[in-house]
Amino acid sequence: MPLWTRPRGTSDILPEEIELWLKLEEKIRAVCHAFGYRELRTPMFEHTELFQRGIGEATDIVEKEMYTFQDRGQRSITLRPEGTAPIVRAYLENKLGAGSLPVKVFYYGPMFRYERPQAGRYRQFTQFGLEALGSSDPLLDVETIALPIELYRACGLEGFEVELNSIGCPSCRQEYRKELVAYAGPLRQELCPSCQSRLDRNPMRLLDCKEEGCRRLLKDAPAIEDYLCQECSSHFSQVRSYLGALDISYHLNPHLVRGFDYYTRTVFEVTFPKLGSQDAIGAGGRYDGLVEECGGQPTPAVGFAVGVERLLLALKSQGKLKLEKKGPAVFIVNFGGRTKVKAAQLAQSLRREGFWAEMDYLDRSIRAQMKSANRLRAGYVLVLGEEELAQKKVLLRDMETGREEFYKLDEPEQLMKALGRV
Ligand code: HAM
Repeated sequence: MPLWTRPRGTSDILPEEIELWLKLEEKIRAVCHAFGYRELRTPMFEHTELFQRGIGEATDIVEKEMYTFQDRGQRSITLRPEGTAPIVRAYLENKLGAGSLPVKVFYYGPMFRYERPQAGRYRQFTQFGLEALGSSDPLLDVETIALPIELYRACGLEGFEVELNSIGCPSCRQEYRKELVAYAGPLRQELCPSCQSRLDRNPMRLLDCKEEGCRRLLKDAPAIEDYLCQECSSHFSQVRSYLGALDISYHLNPHLVRGFDYYTRTVFEVTFPKLGSQDAIGAGGRYDGLVEECGGQPTPAVGFAVGVERLLLALKSQGKLKLEKKGPAVFIVNFGGRTKVKAAQLAQSLRREGFWAEMDYLDRSIRAQMKSANRLRAGYVLVLGEEELAQKKVLLRDMETGREEFYKLDEPEQLMKALGRV
């Protein structure tokens, strides 16, 4: 038994699986390139205040889920629970807004939230996110939805659903909040304990409570759409008309409110219902006030983040993104002593040319080495015995056809040409 296990809610991505991750990353980079998003890498930890101010003090993430600690310089540091606030910080700190607008960036990496782990919900998870800063054009909201959809399509995912809502701006929300409290206030005693506290601290979050009882009680709550101001309402109808023009289907969900305080106007979530309770494979929205909240000029912005583990779960459930198992191009069988040295030299020159060349490191018998080559699914085996060495040649065996041929050791090009057929 090992002395330690990994912390709850984290995972080891084993070599067999990493190939899938790399394949997905390739697709992410290709779709970002096509939409003109460039990568921005921020640190994995930030000053705690960034998230407190950015995400909001009364949100679940800031209240209960952050990994926060004091560093040795007595600064409060937090492992990033999400990528939007760090991108806004980087945008301001590096004066990215001084260039041409909108600034379109993407990020990919681990996020940390102290949540109760379950299938699809982890304490360390990976997000691919994109953010477009500097424009309030509704077309940009729609592109932010279109990009992950193109990614899902490129991966072959079918059966995902887009949910859409507008939560307005702070001024239309004020009116709505009053109405919502007037509706839910008399129901206080029947609401779950979290909703009772939401009623006082963050009433809009009542709408996305997962408890059956609360859902029933709030089913007929006033809908935000009826309270949107003229500008927000017209922005939302333009978003919907661009979605139509680009053939993106969606469901309107007046109860979609999202767990961050920075959102304004459009919010969206992509779900893959087969995943069960953790079915959101991506989510995002517009956050026109966040740049100013972080000390910059008023700057509209919109973004989206995909949960990579959940996307992989969804793809696996459909048998998509399968990998053919590839083995080394060649396994060099040696007989020990001088032949092992020569095998190492041969492996070095093959590796320099980019071939995956393997050999034995446990001084195994020839039979056992052949077995290893088979187990690793090597395309070819090179046999280098004393006799071959004396004659400056090597035997090449094609593991698929069983065909064998000798090659001269001092003419490695011929050998490489043969291996190139793998
Ligand atoms: P979020 O909804 O918190 O939004 O996360 C986005 C996605 O990350 C979720 O839909 C889900 O797929 C994945 N995710 C979140 N928490 C976990 C977890 N504990 N385990 C596994 N996957 C998880 C944001 O983070 C916003 N920053 C998105 C955004 C970008 N809004 C504007 N720009």
